[in-house]
Amino acid sequence: RPRIFSAMQPTNDSLHLGNYIGALTQWVALQDSHDALYCVVDLHALTVNPDPARLRDRTRRTAAQYLAAGVDPARSTLFVQSHVHEHSELAWLLGCQTGFGEASRMTQFKDKSAKRGAEGTTVGLFTYPVLMAADILLYDTALVPVGEDQRQHLELARDLAERMNSRFGDGTCVVPEPHIMAAGARIQDLQDPARKMSKEDGNKGAVFLLDDPKRAAKNIKAAVTDDGTEIRYDPATKPGVANLLTMLSVLTSTPVADLERAYEGKMYGHLKVDLAEAVVELLTPLQRVANEYLDDPAELDRVLAAGADRARELGAATLDRIRDRMGLVPAA
Ligand code: TYM
Repeated sequence: RPRIFSAMQPTNDSLHLGNYIGALTQWVALQDSHDALYCVVDLHALTVNPDPARLRDRTRRTAAQYLAAGVDPARSTLFVQSHVHEHSELAWLLGCQTGFGEASRMTQFKDKSAKRGAEGTTVGLFTYPVLMAADILLYDTALVPVGEDQRQHLELARDLAERMNSRFGDGTCVVPEPHIMAAGARIQDLQDPARKMSKEDGNKGAVFLLDDPKRAAKNIKAAVTDDGTEIRYDPATKPGVANLLTMLSVLTSTPVADLERAYEGKMYGHLKVDLAEAVVELLTPLQRVANEYLDDPAELDRVLAAGADRARELGAATLDRIRDRMGLVPAA
């Protein structure tokens, strides 16, 4: 089975509907046909200096949400990034192959550092994409299921893998392919459909998986829609409606064209009510399972420990190969 790897940052108490639709649905769908590793990237979250108790709590919460969304630890390897030290070591090796200019061109770094200012911008934020490349290359990953916003970071991981192969010989690294959904790879903010739904918001523009389902439904019903009345998928002129249609399409596994037909002659309100219902149906059982894991963190920690054991074994073998190719003397 081809190897896949993907991950999310534990930067919030709850993941949002964009994370679920753009990434988690794919993770769950791919875990039968692929050897899947799903990681909570706590080291990445350190780039923005989180409160330690919060980070610890959010790391477990993120893992619990993976499980609740359908990641099955019997089929997939679920673990925490910092439990596998090899990620950090490979990040150093790859950092020495990354151009300063190349890293400077990462648009997420440019956005985040502009927002945080010179004082709040850490070196870790700058080298973030190198650590992400290490996450992927450490497992000889073939496929990386992510949302659209990770495309540039994945391109860097591919460039680094190719560079490693040309400098240190074919087979040093596997060149990973992105796996980005045709629809749903970029869910927009409910209040401002020109922006992507993001974790930082914590406001009415996002739907959080661990939100009170009633509040989630309210947020959807309050979504900004567009001029006109027709329910049609047209992201250019009707970004709000297109966003709602995309979400409903993924959540109910119904093609957008079928939805357009079903909503002919109906009003925006109908679409919102149906989407709100689909979201409540998603959130209610998901929260039950997530809370079971969070109420018994010992079981969750056991799952994560078993996952880390397997990941470490795979990662250590890759790292040995790369260290050797780069000329590091093996420890006797
Ligand atoms: P993160 O934690 O920001 O997001 C996790 C996943 O959710 C997707 N996503 C979205 N998809 C659709 N619509 C949205 N509005 C939306 N917002 C987020 C993201 O594309 C991602 O797939 N750098 C990564 C974490 C990471 C990683 C990795 C991913 C670290 N190492 C290795 C893959 C492979 C990140 O910050 O994702």
